[in-house]
Amino acid sequence: MVSIFELPTPAFVIDLEVAKRNCDRMREKAAVSGVALRPHVKTHKTIEGARLQLGTERGPVTVSTLAEAEFFADHGFDDITWAVPVAVAKADRIVDLTRRVERFQVLVDHPRAVSILEEAARAQSVRLRVFLEVDCGDHRTGIDPEDDQVLEVLRMIDASKALYLAGVLTHAGHSYRARTRDEILAVSEEEVRAVNIVSERARSSEIGVAVRSIGSTPTAAVVERFSGVDEVRPGNYVFFDAFQAKIGTCEWQDCAATVVATVIAVHPGRRQMVVDAGALALSKDRGAEHLEDRISYGVVLDQAGHPRGDLRVTTLSQEHGKIEADTAAALESVRIGDIVRIIPNHSCLTAALFEQYHILRGSDVVGEWRPVRGW
Ligand SMILES: Cc1ncc(COP(=O)(O)O)c(C=O)c1O
Repeated sequence: MVSIFELPTPAFVIDLEVAKRNCDRMREKAAVSGVALRPHVKTHKTIEGARLQLGTERGPVTVSTLAEAEFFADHGFDDITWAVPVAVAKADRIVDLTRRVERFQVLVDHPRAVSILEEAARAQSVRLRVFLEVDCGDHRTGIDPEDDQVLEVLRMIDASKALYLAGVLTHAGHSYRARTRDEILAVSEEEVRAVNIVSERARSSEIGVAVRSIGSTPTAAVVERFSGVDEVRPGNYVFFDAFQAKIGTCEWQDCAATVVATVIAVHPGRRQMVVDAGALALSKDRGAEHLEDRISYGVVLDQAGHPRGDLRVTTLSQEHGKIEADTAAALESVRIGDIVRIIPNHSCLTAALFEQYHILRGSDVVGEWRPVRGW
């Protein structure tokens, strides 16, 4: 059996027990709350990761690309939500997935997208399942819940024979800008409020909203129970990462993904060493920079797997990661060829840089996952 120290570096490794524990906790929280868990699979983009999240072979999933949707459909998943507003030029692939998958659902946040989808659906004689996305404070996509356009879109979907209103959905991306758990809890109230404002407004217009769907890892991990919604869609919690640990969403020992790198240069005089994990192995995500004076492109671990406060990944070029130490002594025992493990700032972006993930039990590599790529 290969050990972590024998892997060609840089390597992306997953501690299976930690990932499984993260998944079990989220699934149990959803179950005791009486809400459906439709995990987002964008972090890992693998069938194995989805099965860990679901605790079973198949189940409802959320995807971030049509390529993911097609990959999961190919593996027999029959309940898939594509949780990004549709790129209307892809209507053909949406229609195709609607034919292949028992329940394939897409998002809209504009009347024009509704018109284009409805035309495509009518022309192909299919009925598309559509979620209205509303904004709960992130201001990325989604209509303001109080905006007149909410009712315009709901009425258009409701009136169409070629469309079916799957529900109302929001994503609290602004939970990532929180500084404390209390701030995250306040955001979690906003996401619940947003979908309920819309379902109430719909009810007043005699339009039924079957599903109120929310989900982000910070809010889902911090709330004790889910309430006031029907479905939750967190994703990052499978691996967590340095960002989540720093904003208080998880503990360091919950971080399941690390990048394994080799020391390729040591310069104690400059208080620095360089590893073979650059921007193409860690990503240039700056992490929870709203909380820090000095950024680091990941958190370096000691031999026992604890974060080292005296080392920072200060500069990334394509294949070099420069790690600076607070003191020369911190580098005294470092040798060329040593193996270093780094918790990525944003595990979703880091995972997306690797064609395979090595699965660990202890320090033994016991498997490999291969993610789907592309759009
Ligand atoms: C629409 C939507 N739902 C759910 C999620 C999952 O959130 P997280 O990555 O915080 O778990 C995302 C993540 O970007 C998203 O965009």
